[in-house]
This record gives sequence, C-alpha cells and structure tokens, in this order.
Amino acid sequence: MTEDLGAVQADLLAAVQSAGDLKALESARLAAIGKKGRVGALMQALGGLPPEQRKDYGQAVNALKQAVEAAIELRKADLEASALDAKLAAEQVDVTLPIRSEVEGRIHPISQTIDEIVQIFGQMGFQVAEGPDLEDDWKNFTALNIPEEHPARQEMDTFYLRAGEDGTRPVLRTHTSPVQIRTMMSEKPPIRVIVPGRTFRSDHDATHSPMFHQVEGLVIDEVSHMGHLKGCLIEFCRTFFEISDLPVRFRNSHFPFTEPSAEVDIGCTRTNGELRIGHGDDWLEILGSGMVHPRVLENCGIDSNKYQGFAFGMGIERIAMLKYGIPDLRTFYDSDLRWLKHYGFVPLDVPGTLGGLHR
Ligand code: PHE
Repeated sequence: MTEDLGAVQADLLAAVQSAGDLKALESARLAAIGKKGRVGALMQALGGLPPEQRKDYGQAVNALKQAVEAAIELRKADLEASALDAKLAAEQVDVTLPIRSEVEGRIHPISQTIDEIVQIFGQMGFQVAEGPDLEDDWKNFTALNIPEEHPARQEMDTFYLRAGEDGTRPVLRTHTSPVQIRTMMSEKPPIRVIVPGRTFRSDHDATHSPMFHQVEGLVIDEVSHMGHLKGCLIEFCRTFFEISDLPVRFRNSHFPFTEPSAEVDIGCTRTNGELRIGHGDDWLEILGSGMVHPRVLENCGIDSNKYQGFAFGMGIERIAMLKYGIPDLRTFYDSDLRWLKHYGFVPLDVPGTLGGLHR
C-alpha cells in the first residue's frame, strides 16, 4: 500500500506556506525532507513495491521532493526579507537629532590639529598618504640623501632595532620623510600628498618627547618651483593660525634631501615670557622646507631632468601648542581626562575652512 502522493505534497506545501518565521520553516523542512521526514518514509516504501512499479514511484517521490524544496527556498527568501525589514525598522535612527548633552568625549588636540592641516591642504588638492612607524634605514636615511656617517644620523637620536637577516638595523622613523620615498616609488608624478604620522627620537624634556607627530608635504610635477612652495606655505600658516596677514619669513637653511632649503618663521612677540603669534618684532620657526634634491628623485627612479617639486615638514605638537596655548608637551600623552576636557574639542565640530577651523 502506498500513500496518495498528491495529498502528501499538498500537505507538506501547506506546512511550508504556513511557517511564520525561519524557525518554524526549519521544523517544516525537517518534517518533510529531514532524515526522519515524510519524504524519507515514502522512499523507504519503494523497497516493498513490485519491481515494475519502482521506477515510476521513485520518480514521482523525487518530483515531490523537488517541489517541496523549491517551496522551502521561496518561503525562506520571503521570511528573510521581512526579517531584515523588521530589523531595519527597529534600528532606525534619526541622524538629524542634536547630540546628547551628556556626551563628554573630546577630540584630542593632536587629532584636531591633524584634521585641520588635512582640511587646509585638502583644499589645495593634496591627498593624505601614510607609512609605517618602523622603517628600513634606506628609506629613513640613505634614499633621502643622508649617507652613512652623515651627522644628521646622530642629530636625529635614532632608535635602532636589532639587525635583520640582511645585516641592516630597522629604525623607528625619525621623521615622516620616508613616506616621500614610498610615495615616489609607488606613484607616478604629478604627486601632491600630505603625510601625518608618528615619529620617534630619543629625546625627552618639556619640549621634546620620544614619540611625537609630524606632517610631511610633497609636490612633484614638471613645473612647481620655489614660488609655489612659498605661496603654499604662506597660505597654510595664515589659514592655520587664522591671522590673514600673519608675517611669514623664509630663511635659508640646509637639509640633505632638499636644495635649496628654507626654514619658515612666523611673526610673534615675546613679552615677559609670554609668546603671541602675529605681528611683532620677533620670529618663531615652525617649518622645514625646500626643493626636493635631484638625487632623492633619482633614488626613487624619477627623472630629475623632467620632474621637480618641493617638500616640507613640521611638528604637529609644536604648532598645536602654539595655536591652543598648551604650555607643556608632555601633557599630550598623560591621558588625563581633566586636561582633555579643557583642551579637547567637541566631536561634532568638524574643522572646515568655511565654517572656521574650530569653534
Ligand atoms: N624631515 C625634516 C625634519 O624632520 C623636515 C623637512 C621635511 C624638511 C621636508 C624639509 C623638507 O626635520
């Protein structure tokens, strides 16, 4: 005796259709095509049939099974879609609501200053590039035209690591300049990047920390010259310090990786030990810069007869201290919440050169 397959199929399909959620659907699936389900039982009945009926019967049971499986898939897709709709409806947030007043988190002045710098140079068409803290000696020094035994290697108070297999010692980068090398080796000119990041030198007092931050700038193309360097950095200083006629001075200097090189000073006054940025009779150094040395271009496989450009670098803590009147560098890393509440920035006040860099 075999069951009426049509009736069984109608039964199983009805159970699938009436499953109200994914769990119920899974029970219906097990009851139908699970190990001990109805379809399995139908298959077992095959053995008891006269041989000439087995083929037709087997095919009929298979067709039934396929119909049930297809129905399960359809129902599953339906249930998943409505589960997602329900979830989205339940998790809806109103992004136009004002921030809750009890939110006390603050943006650290270093992050704020980096955001401001990125914002200013971003509007001049610079893109942000990054590199690792741990560098090889070649990118941190040699490629930047600082050969072995060059005094700059000692001046920078480098943290060296144990030598690797090739015998050279990796370094904690002493400046963000190795990212110039990385960028020039991986991208074709025109290049216009700024590089914020951590840097390391073995030095520690009220104005030096063994870990500090720099931002590097690099422009490489066929036309950029010293005039562009000056215009770009004057514009930056005035926008950053929010003094539209801030005096900016370029002073002849030397870096192995730029030629000519210039240090950039901004106007200030110093009275009774108090420093004020702006018009005055004194100058304060805030930037190193210069035209990228042809040898540095060649080290990166860039034709120095065709391409040229400029680079600059500055300490982020230093300009943050100047702009926001933070007296001691060490406090940046104390993680003191009272300090952060005082000097930090409200998270939603995203810096922009239109609405003001900070509020
Ligand atoms: N790398 C230099 C420093 O750390 C700064 C600099 C960058 C100077 C790029 C010129 C050009 O002092």
